[in-house]
Amino acid sequence: MVVVSQHTPQDLQHLLMGMNYDRIFILSDNNTRKQCVEALMHLPALQGAVQMVVNTGEMTKSLETAAYLWRILKDEAATRHSLLLSVGGGMITDLGGFVAAAFKRGMQCVHVSTSLLGAVDAATGGKTGVNFEGYKNMIGFFYQPKHVIVAVDFFATLDTQQLLSGYAEMLKHALIASKEDWLKTIAWDTETMAIDQLSILLERNIAIKQHIVDMDPEEQSLRKVLNFGHTIGHAIESWTHQTQQPQPHGYAVMWGIVAEVFLSHKKLGFPVTYLQQLMSLMKQAYGRPAFTCKDYELLCELMQQDKKNMDAEHINFTLLRNLGLPEINQTATQEEIHEALDFLREG
Ligand SMILES: NC(=O)c1ccc[n+]([C@@H]2O[C@H](COP(=O)([O-])OP(=O)(O)OC[C@H]3O[C@@H](n4cnc5c(N)ncnc54)[C@H](O)[C@@H]3O)[C@@H](O)[C@H]2O)c1
Ligand SMILES: [Zn+2]
Repeated sequence: MVVVSQHTPQDLQHLLMGMNYDRIFILSDNNTRKQCVEALMHLPALQGAVQMVVNTGEMTKSLETAAYLWRILKDEAATRHSLLLSVGGGMITDLGGFVAAAFKRGMQCVHVSTSLLGAVDAATGGKTGVNFEGYKNMIGFFYQPKHVIVAVDFFATLDTQQLLSGYAEMLKHALIASKEDWLKTIAWDTETMAIDQLSILLERNIAIKQHIVDMDPEEQSLRKVLNFGHTIGHAIESWTHQTQQPQPHGYAVMWGIVAEVFLSHKKLGFPVTYLQQLMSLMKQAYGRPAFTCKDYELLCELMQQDKKNMDAEHINFTLLRNLGLPEINQTATQEEIHEALDFLREG
């Protein structure tokens, strides 16, 4: 179902030829329309397709935009047998999946994932959604696209921040998967940032997530391992959105990973060597987060609001006993969390 492609136009044409649908609707944002959709519009399969273009940015992932898109689908007489082709990063595939899931109780959708973060995380796994009243991804469905094309040939126009953001999620998959995956993934050179080197790792990296999702599609238990780094990461991400300098999801995830590997070392004896390796990568490529100890209380409150918690008192973590040995449903005391945050600032 997921194709990692170096030749997206040809692979997309081939894939569409093998599908049954009455019409195609293409969703993109201002950037991906220019950088990606334009390079696809000559395809025979896309002649006569209706283009729907929305603004770039997380603010667009809203119920209002979804309603705007449903209106176009209705006005253009789309049916359940029409196909929604989302061409973009995680914002576009989350929004496209959401719109497709609800329109006439589900129209077919295909994602062409054009960002690294979108490819390794958002486009696979079937989670769709929009943000609501300041809460990320609050309204959504589990809804599987018919196909996903990871458009590696479109990654050339991604900037350093976007690549590092996706790479953090790749490190997360490697940490929970195995020592072999870890060694291969950590060896990527964040100074030269060679995309061909990264794409060699992509197929396996996406398969790690896909395998876990297949075993627990609706996150009853095992899928929680994919939240590694995200309890602290999401809190830092939300915190940065309350400051003047919001940070990309993947940067917050990198900080969350380092903090949660620290907790894993403290509580489950995770080997310190890998912690040190991650810390030096963080300092060199991502930098340190900007919070001070005055922000710890707010950060802990944000962790308490996490959707994954079973109750208000205990913050739920996935931690690691070793590479490839994640443990779900772990908790940590406030003191331990403060220590992990200290480590991020000064370790
Ligand atoms: N559904 C899930 O399981 C899941 C998992 C992780 C993240 N997400 C969601 O994914 C989103 C973040 O993903 P993202 O970083 O891809 O966001 P995004 O789609 O906003 O893309 C980031 C920026 O990169 C641009 N872009 C995309 N592809 C490009 C290309 N090839 N060349 C040049 N520019 C390009 C976009 O236009 C945008 O400006 C968030 O909304 C997050 O909630 C969802
Ligand atoms: Zn993430």
